[in-house]
Amino acid sequence: MTGQPDPSPDPGPPAEEAGAPVAAVVVLAAGEGKRMRSARSKLLHEIGGHSLLSYAVTAATMLQPQHVVVVVGHLRDQVEAHLAEVAPHVQTVVQEEQRGTGHAVQVALAALPELSGDVVVTYGDVPLLTGDTLAELVADHRTEGTAVTVLTAQVGDPTGYGRVLRDRSGHVQAIVEHRDADAEQRAITEINSGIYVFEAGALRAGLAELRPDNEQGELYLTDVLAAARRSGRTVSAYPVEDVWQTEGVNDRVQLSRLGVELNRRILDGWMRAGVTVLDPATTWVQASVDLGPDVTLLPGTSLEGATSVASGAVIGPDTTLVDVEVGQDATVVRTHGSLSVIGAGASVGPFAYLRPGTRLGAGGKIGTFVEAKNAQIGAGAKVPHLSYVGDAEIADGANIGAGVIFANYDGVHKSTTTVGAASFVGSNSVLTAPVAIADGAYVAAGSTITSDVGVGELGVSRGQQRNVRGWVARKRAGTRTARAAEAAQAAARSDQQTPAEQTPPEQTSTEQTGVTSL
Ligand code: UD1
Ligand code: CA
Repeated sequence: MTGQPDPSPDPGPPAEEAGAPVAAVVVLAAGEGKRMRSARSKLLHEIGGHSLLSYAVTAATMLQPQHVVVVVGHLRDQVEAHLAEVAPHVQTVVQEEQRGTGHAVQVALAALPELSGDVVVTYGDVPLLTGDTLAELVADHRTEGTAVTVLTAQVGDPTGYGRVLRDRSGHVQAIVEHRDADAEQRAITEINSGIYVFEAGALRAGLAELRPDNEQGELYLTDVLAAARRSGRTVSAYPVEDVWQTEGVNDRVQLSRLGVELNRRILDGWMRAGVTVLDPATTWVQASVDLGPDVTLLPGTSLEGATSVASGAVIGPDTTLVDVEVGQDATVVRTHGSLSVIGAGASVGPFAYLRPGTRLGAGGKIGTFVEAKNAQIGAGAKVPHLSYVGDAEIADGANIGAGVIFANYDGVHKSTTTVGAASFVGSNSVLTAPVAIADGAYVAAGSTITSDVGVGELGVSRGQQRNVRGWVARKRAGTRTARAAEAAQAAARSDQQTPAEQTPPEQTSTEQTGVTSL
């Protein structure tokens, strides 16, 4: 199924169809993010498995602009390294000293060739803003033909935000910061999101006029709007209904709130597409995950990365799958898995650990307290209980008994063990790799197998059993075990009513001759 929001760049309609390409998107990301109280840049903190900055860059990239510029400053080494990894197409510009949003845009423009057309400005810490909203903002700006269009929102509590002052015609007169606003202005509930489209010439002219004559002594980008008005241009506002799209992350409380909201949106999408989610509050699905119809997600499930789940499968409770492919109608209970494939109709867990390279065939089973790594387990093959299966190839229909260990590591090298079709490995065996159990073979329970077992053979490798008669009476006299033995022997004697035939307790059976020291 598709139709989910995906944070990876969506090519979208080519920019030519919507008119000239946007000249540049400037992403402001130089600020300190003090309230995160983190050694890590705020922009590298994640929601839904991706950094805050990657959402901003993805939305920017969806516009297919000529330039995407990220203004970096605080902890810029971290930010630059991250961008080189996730978005090598973006250009970074260093703002050495954070002298305000207007100054940040000045620094960005100084690093670019002279632009004409539209310049979009966004923030690196507003992760729910979509490329679609940016495209609508640009389209609205082009229809209005104004110098600037600012994305605004109506909020219940506008404290801290810049307020949008409109004139009688509805155009924007100016934006006044909370700190600089009077009581009447503070009562305005339409706020500046900090996201804008500027006509490049008007932006350049306005930036040249900025003065730090405000409460913070900074160069305010918002003052470019008033400057455009002074020069006789108009400024419009584009209000967005979905206020979450304008919300930035300043601390970890907001990080969590936005992460929950992103997840809620993803889960709502899947529920509408036919997935049952018992408890959305404890179920986490990243945008990159793909789910089939009639999948059921039980509480405590987290699906991450390139995980896909085919129709009818039931996942959870308490299961985390990262890059796992789950086949149709499979069940995966209380399991932690990564980079693995679970076949159709297979069953996994409870309490299974699937490490990279586990491939379970259709109808197969990986059961309770089983760890598997780099293990191919064929169709209908079963590893039901308490096993370690490392570097193994188990053919279709084989059965691995409880507590079998695939000893794949000799301290230096890892080696492979193969188990043939429909073969049976008895409980508590150790298969010491490299070793091969052929098709249709058996391994006796408790064996330590160090050499191959051929087709149709039974491999058995363990000490012969010996029973030492009278041992308990001799070595554990007076214990409750000895008393139980005496009672059982007495009962047996009276049953038989021929006491003369009873073996004296000190005597050993014939096989045990010479082992009385045990
Ligand atoms: C800004 C707006 C305000 C708006 C609010 C929305 C101004 C003057 N005010 O206020 O009207 O309501 O955003 O969130 O623009 N940054 C830099 N370099 C700097 C300063 C800031 O890159 O020198 C970046 C920050 O990293 C941040 C963004 O710009 O991502 C916003 O900066 P911040 O200082 O948080 O602006 P606000 O005071 O919130
Ligand atoms: Ca802010």
